[in-house]
Amino acid sequence: MKEIRLGELTFEECISYEALIKKIEEIAHQINVAFAGKRPVFIVVLKGAFLFAAEIIKRFEGECEIEFVQLSSYQGTQTTSQIQEKLFVQSDLKDRDVIILEDIVDTGHTVNYLFQRFNEMKVRSITTVVLLFKPEAFKYDYPLDYVAFQIPSDFVIGFGLDYNEKGRNIPGIYKLKNI
Ligand code: IMP
Ligand code: MG
Repeated sequence: MKEIRLGELTFEECISYEALIKKIEEIAHQINVAFAGKRPVFIVVLKGAFLFAAEIIKRFEGECEIEFVQLSSYQGTQTTSQIQEKLFVQSDLKDRDVIILEDIVDTGHTVNYLFQRFNEMKVRSITTVVLLFKPEAFKYDYPLDYVAFQIPSDFVIGFGLDYNEKGRNIPGIYKLKNI
């Protein structure tokens, strides 16, 4: 069992780099078919999705554009979470086909916020492509069109995902080990 330590915590490998790439190749192929002849705008949700997005986008064979957003969610005193925009798309997305690339969907607040914002901007379509999905925590019913892996509600790091900004560079996905 591959293990790594970050600070005082120990994580064990749950999805290898090879398995991630194999699945990403399949999804990238499906996106190529679905968006052939279209000119989608890929929306990379920073920071966590940067590696996943690179693997998907470099396999896209058509014309495309790339935009970045960075959001932070604050859990207030209420149950709804407040999302703050640190960086948002500056270009006009009206009538565009947008493809959201997200590292992980947990409660779903972040992607729900993006749906609202892009609908306000009158995009033509929204497609969601996510590396990891934790269905147990999901609070919404919007569609996740492409999901590479469904996982239990464990805390995970690696392949872009972090624990206090650490671990994004680790090639595979590692989950927190219960000691
Ligand atoms: P949501 O808005 O609850 O769906 O959460 C999405 C965001 O929470 C992700 O973009 C991640 O930044 C963060 N997140 C959720 N679960 C994990 C995890 O297991 N490891 C690292 N970050 C996570
Ligand atoms: Mg994220």
